[in-house]
Amino acid sequence: MKEDSPVLYPNEKVGERVCSYAKAHTTGIPQYIHEYHEHIRQTMPETSMYMVSLSQAQALSFLTRTFGATRILEVGVYVGLSCLVWSHAVGPEGKITGLEFDSAFADQARETLQKYGVDNVEVITGDALQTLPALAPSEPYDMVFIDAQKSGYPHYLKQILEGSKPGAPNRILRKGGLIVADNILRCGFVADDSEDNPWRKHDFGPHRPEYWKSDDIKALKAYNELATAEERLENWLCPLWDGVSMSRLLD
Ligand SMILES: C[S@@+](CC[C@H](N)C(=O)[O-])C[C@H]1O[C@@H](n2cnc3c(N)ncnc32)[C@H](O)[C@@H]1O
Repeated sequence: MKEDSPVLYPNEKVGERVCSYAKAHTTGIPQYIHEYHEHIRQTMPETSMYMVSLSQAQALSFLTRTFGATRILEVGVYVGLSCLVWSHAVGPEGKITGLEFDSAFADQARETLQKYGVDNVEVITGDALQTLPALAPSEPYDMVFIDAQKSGYPHYLKQILEGSKPGAPNRILRKGGLIVADNILRCGFVADDSEDNPWRKHDFGPHRPEYWKSDDIKALKAYNELATAEERLENWLCPLWDGVSMSRLLD
């Protein structure tokens, strides 16, 4: 096995068992978050795949706490599952801001947060391409989690960099803060859209024929190119889940 292209596990069965073992030996997230995840899976089957998986939530919570983040900006809230995760990770003294385009999703997220007694999350309704650059936080965020429309990813990255210059008033992200972008490999298409990729046979719906050639995939590639070329960022593209890009702002 070549060190640079590790096959994590030899087949799906072993992979599943190893992952469930790893999950059982990882600090869990609270039961109410599991319950809400399951509730959305049952009641909103057509969109529930928008949510981060609970194992990814565990990993990102761990990461958040490891570098002491207390302020998180999320782009793409859906119905608030990941906001519950961030809110728990930062604790009651922390603060979360979520940006969501769809008002019905945003309302459901607010109702859910209220139901669980979570009062450190603000959800702002609107197109994040407009609401993100309009933010003027009194303190910069420690982390931005990008999980909205893929075509917006390069724009969000540029907006964050532009709004986080050293010495700027109300900068968005602090020095040393993280930009985390989800689904950055999109079924592996971003790195390999050849016929070797079995996801080419998947039906992504009538609006997404030949998805591997789509503008979404082009935008994700553009995001990775931008992040890699940007001297202000130190990057780790983590190939787990659907690909998670992590960039640390150096200045
Ligand atoms: C993948 S989901 C987010 C899932 C959520 N982070 C979670 O893990 O539970 C993406 C969300 O981004 C929202 N979205 C899409 N385009 C947007 C935009 N331009 N501005 C803000 N939100 C947008 C969608 O309505 C959708 O709810």
